[in-house]
Amino acid sequence: MTSSNITPELVQAVRDASDIVDVAGNMTRLDRKGKRYEGLCPFHKEKTPSFSVDPDQGLFYCFGCGAGGDTIKLFMEHSGDDFPAAIEALAQRYGIPLPTSPAGRRTGPTQHHTAALETAASFFQKNLENSNFARSYLDRRKISQELRRTYGLGYAPDGWDNLLRAVSNQIPLDDLIAAGLVGRSQHSGDPYDRFRQRLMFPIHNPAGRIVGFGGRTLGDDKAKYINTSETEQFHKGSLLYGFHQAKRALRDNGRAVLVEGYFDVLGAAASGIDWAVAGMGTALTEDQARLLARYSDEITLAYDGDAAGEKACRRALPILLGAGLAIRRARFPTGHDPDSWRLEAGGEAVQELIATAEDAIWLEIQRQIPAAEERTPVLQARAAGTIAELLGGVRDEVVRGAYQRRAAEHLGVPEGALRGQRGAKHYFKSIEQSTETARPDVRTEEEKALYLLLQEHEETPHPSELPPSEVFFDPECRNIYAAFCALYVGGNRRAPTGAEIIAKLSNEGKAVDRAARLLLEESDSEERGLPETLGKLLHRWNKQHQAELMRQIRQAQQQGNEELLTQLLEEKKALSRKLHPGMTGKVW
Ligand code: UTP
Ligand code: MN
Repeated sequence: MTSSNITPELVQAVRDASDIVDVAGNMTRLDRKGKRYEGLCPFHKEKTPSFSVDPDQGLFYCFGCGAGGDTIKLFMEHSGDDFPAAIEALAQRYGIPLPTSPAGRRTGPTQHHTAALETAASFFQKNLENSNFARSYLDRRKISQELRRTYGLGYAPDGWDNLLRAVSNQIPLDDLIAAGLVGRSQHSGDPYDRFRQRLMFPIHNPAGRIVGFGGRTLGDDKAKYINTSETEQFHKGSLLYGFHQAKRALRDNGRAVLVEGYFDVLGAAASGIDWAVAGMGTALTEDQARLLARYSDEITLAYDGDAAGEKACRRALPILLGAGLAIRRARFPTGHDPDSWRLEAGGEAVQELIATAEDAIWLEIQRQIPAAEERTPVLQARAAGTIAELLGGVRDEVVRGAYQRRAAEHLGVPEGALRGQRGAKHYFKSIEQSTETARPDVRTEEEKALYLLLQEHEETPHPSELPPSEVFFDPECRNIYAAFCALYVGGNRRAPTGAEIIAKLSNEGKAVDRAARLLLEESDSEERGLPETLGKLLHRWNKQHQAELMRQIRQAQQQGNEELLTQLLEEKKALSRKLHPGMTGKVW
């Protein structure tokens, strides 16, 4: 059914005929309370009923999660249907005749898709049963029969037209194409199966209807996973793989586990955690976070144990915070994801890692706190600013206050320094700009400076001419630099080697990773000019220092603190001389 088939008369007829108590009664048990009905909300987990249905007005509202509307909206929310599909389904349910489309069919694109996808799913499932090759793959990966059934796994055999031939008498070609199962050769225009020699994962919407597939190659195709194309129903950014299967467990225990891949959902379920869900290769979206928040209060991130997984975790923080969720982070050994760890160490080991997952916000705060020997007022102030921004994203005031107290204590600043910032989104934007680059193979200015410093060459300044470590904003880079300086100044006046620096950094895993990368990775950009690069960092720091001084000066003026004012003005003058050294002056 297309929207043009939906006349206002049809919508009105559906509204008149459909009964909200009947529709809601299929979703949750309702009890009569005076003129209204009450029940447990079908949209969020709760123990006492806050879902209310008013038959007189034909409306529902949940006092717990704030979902509300008329029968059509209720039906859409619950089924995941769009408006036309909901109208059509309700019309069918209440016996309202549907207009006939020009093609003489009485169903719309949603139904076409669903029929194509469901037929394909059974075809794939049958093929899995019949394929020794595919079954033994799953055997090797220790995916039980029960899991195969629960997740509806299938197999798309090798060859260009297996699906086409098998379903052509049931499903029109156009529907197979529209559902993203079949493509057309650009050359000849001939149709062909898009999924070949792939393990097939049906993807459901939250209501449990198949809306697409993910397929993992079992051959040597370069694309490990492909998906059906995006349609109105299959919108990767608002779906979560495994959600439909996890829904009940999510609602029951209020926690969700978020993993990176299809197999991790299976691996978690095989480890006894059947409430894990995954995105489909894209970064977590606000829609997905909202969906999770409808069913749970706490998310455990169980991403891959590598740099990309770590980055994805940090990226997910502000989005999950924005949805009001508490966040934990399970850390898998380097090179492992939940599924591979299950095969390596067993399901209990996976459970253990997830059960002992640490508070992700606190981990992030600790990341920003400079090491004790590095702690200068300027660094403390900067860390306080970034932590305050992160905590600005924590919705619950009490929780926010608790983090502020704890962070202030660890950082050695008054609690007030951690209040009133712009929020987590801003925090991540600013740290991404200052410490990370969009492409990992492009070095930041700080990394470039370190890289140059770690190479042996004549340009290394005399220890007395090295800028202070505060010029590095990125905590890891700062630690590497501080290690370099300590060895350089304290040692035999020879620039330390990479190995010496790494040995000194041995307690700081992240900085070691980073230093190793800088030492080993080839860079395609031209790396020249150590004095200039360090000079740039120093200049940036001085600028920031200057802004901070200006702020203190204004404050001292307001307070009429003459003594402090004189001192600050002296500092500012000295700083100006550094910032504008003249034609011949040194930068440091
Ligand atoms: P991974 O490469 O981590 O795969 O991608 P995986 O889930 O561990 O799979 P196995 O264990 O090797 O079989 C994580 C997710 O990223 C998406 C998929 O959703 C995958 O599950 N992805 C990955 C793609 O969409 N395309 C790809 O080519 C690779
Ligand atoms: Mn994997």
